[in-house]
Amino acid sequence: MTVIELRAVTKSYPGGVHALRGVDLSIDPGELLAVVGPSGSGKSTLLNLIGTLDRPTSGTVRVAGHDVGALSDSQLSALRARHIGFVFQHFHLSPGRDAVDNVADGLLYAGVPLKERRVRARLALEQVRLGHRLSHRPHELSGGEKQRVAIARALVGEPDLLLADEPTGALDTASGRIVMELLHELHATGTTICVITHDQEIAAALPRHIRVRDGAVVSDRRSVEAAS
Ligand SMILES: Nc1ncnc2c1ncn2[C@@H]1O[C@H](COP(=O)(O)OP(=O)(O)OP(=O)(O)O)[C@@H](O)[C@H]1O
Ligand SMILES: [Mg+2]
Repeated sequence: MTVIELRAVTKSYPGGVHALRGVDLSIDPGELLAVVGPSGSGKSTLLNLIGTLDRPTSGTVRVAGHDVGALSDSQLSALRARHIGFVFQHFHLSPGRDAVDNVADGLLYAGVPLKERRVRARLALEQVRLGHRLSHRPHELSGGEKQRVAIARALVGEPDLLLADEPTGALDTASGRIVMELLHELHATGTTICVITHDQEIAAALPRHIRVRDGAVVSDRRSVEAAS
């Protein structure tokens, strides 16, 4: 089954902005893909629709076979909690709360008791090699470490799909490289990942590229070399 399927999806905003103009896109289990394109071309809009944070103006979005348009807001939240993890450019961690609690929040809507949330959070932090920073709060972590906490939070619920909007955009080159290595490792263990990036080097290293321009997918390529 495809993880994500978009058919003839459009998104318009009040004031006559046509952010997406008819997008068809499928993402299969285990893919690692880059979404590239100029500023304002619709990349974040596309990611928000894939992630069910927003609904299309027209067309259909399916997540793990479920038609998003047929679900109520609460059903949609449940679907999102079960299937999708998010990573953002600016981390979106809760200040004043340590790494374990930030990651445990990734299970808040999954009905997992607090004690188990914390146990699983510790394991997820070890997975991103932050087992030595469990009780650090965001202001005590480097940018790269913050992003790894955010990745652990996205992964702790074992989502089918990890969505990352410019995950290295706020990081220096070295920290960005560590974050991308981590995403490659997760892909190698079977996680499906979609990354928005304007970094050509990062995009070139990913097995599939989608180029967006003026709200449309203008190319969709799989590269044999990068996939190996
Ligand atoms: N909530 C909104 N209301 C109105 N217009 C919006 C809204 N969100 C986005 N847009 C417009 O939709 C278009 C696509 O925006 P989007 O954020 O998807 O671009 P992007 O490709 O992610 O750009 P960037 O690389 O700068 O992040 C832009 O023209 C933007 O101004
Ligand atoms: Mg954007």
